[in-house]
Amino acid sequence: EETTVGIIGGGPAGLLLSRLLHRSGIDNVVLESRDRSYVEQRQRAGMLEQTTVDVLRDCGAGARLASEGLVHDGIELRFGGRSRHIDFPTLADGRRVTIYAQTEIVKDLIALQLSGLSDGAPLLFGAEVRSVSGFAPGTEQDGTGAGSPGPQKPELQYTYEGRERVLRCAFVVGCDGFHGVSRNALPVSAAHTYERDYPYSWLGILADAPPACEELIYAHSPRGFALHSMRSPSVSRLYLQVPNGTDPGEWPEERIWDELDARFALGGDSDWRLNRGPVTAKAVLPMRSSVTEPMRHGRLFLAGDAAHIVPPTGAKGLNLAVADVAVLARAFARYHATGDTGALDSYSADRLRRVWRAEHFSYFMTTTLHISPDQSPFDTRLQLAQLERIASSRTAATELAENYAGLALVD
Ligand code: FAD
Ligand code: DHB
Repeated sequence: EETTVGIIGGGPAGLLLSRLLHRSGIDNVVLESRDRSYVEQRQRAGMLEQTTVDVLRDCGAGARLASEGLVHDGIELRFGGRSRHIDFPTLADGRRVTIYAQTEIVKDLIALQLSGLSDGAPLLFGAEVRSVSGFAPGTEQDGTGAGSPGPQKPELQYTYEGRERVLRCAFVVGCDGFHGVSRNALPVSAAHTYERDYPYSWLGILADAPPACEELIYAHSPRGFALHSMRSPSVSRLYLQVPNGTDPGEWPEERIWDELDARFALGGDSDWRLNRGPVTAKAVLPMRSSVTEPMRHGRLFLAGDAAHIVPPTGAKGLNLAVADVAVLARAFARYHATGDTGALDSYSADRLRRVWRAEHFSYFMTTTLHISPDQSPFDTRLQLAQLERIASSRTAATELAENYAGLALVD
């Protein structure tokens, strides 16, 4: 078996890359270890930057997103018992964000890829990649020049339907998430991973309850952070800061709702409450920042969570994954059309600038809104001073709005 681009992983990054390459006439194969329904049901992100919406629309995956996505003009920050609206269109050049679940993006992309016989590249579920080889860059000795894509042909060794198989490719893109094989295939001497753990996690729930407010609410409370989001006019998505190692079994439904209400409480005589309803999903998510540099070694490229993860506060993870593959697909298209490797060569440096910006923003949102186990009253006062500044200064609010609504794909 042979293809031009072998894609490891059929999450949002791998599926979208496949679609973009296919539309540029570049053949590719996606190998995904899990089955289709697992990939389609995995509860994750929900907030899309305008650029992400544009990329999905432009590749023909935007129909349901346009009709079912919820367009938001801003967010609400709640702290000190008060609420402040941050308006994105006025602060960030007219930009808005859209709520549309990652599960739905994945369903839309899979449906497009598997529809008809000719409108998608091959996508194999239950195909687990075991190893990647033959991607090392060229050297002066082999006559191809140091750093050139190299003379070798990469191979993906994978298991499918109980058999060991090999896919030979011109290039490999690792879109296999944080626990995949591609990042670990990089030689230790060629790559470095920068990491930071946080001393808290999120308990996330989905509930059949209409959102209590049209906007996302990011709440700073002495009891810990809480986030109000949604999936549709009848489904709420809510998150609570909990200690690392929390067992979701410790959180029966009533305890979750009571704690959420306590953290979102407004001062004075406000009786603001969430709408309650049956909890249909509940999970604890750890938080970590991680960046692997560089995002390319010879003929192997990394994209999405395989290259970097952010703590979820500020919702950058999925948006970064989409931006990575949009830039990478353009670079492949240019190489395919003209033989020019310039954009492939600058992929890693171009993306890492944006990745580190998003890393800083996610770290800033996380550490400004959560209460650390060892936090002093002084630290809490600093957080409140920063939130007050964002609420009262157009300059400070603009910094938040530009980062949240998202920066352009390229400088
Ligand atoms: P993934 O979605 O992880 O996809 C990788 C795919 O590769 C998977 O389907 C996996 O099965 C497959 N794979 C792995 N190894 C192999 C292999 N060896 N062979 C073949 N296939 C393989 N972001 C937000 O912005 N907001 C959120 O609320 C949010 N919540 C999250 C909750 C959780 C539990 C997690 C893990 C992430 C969350 N994120 C969130 C981040 C966001 O979902 C990710 O950034 C996004 O999924 C990245 O997409 P991806 O395609 O790069 O990786
Ligand atoms: C969602 C998740 C986030 O991390 C965030 O900052 C905003 C929204 C969500 O799942 O809807």
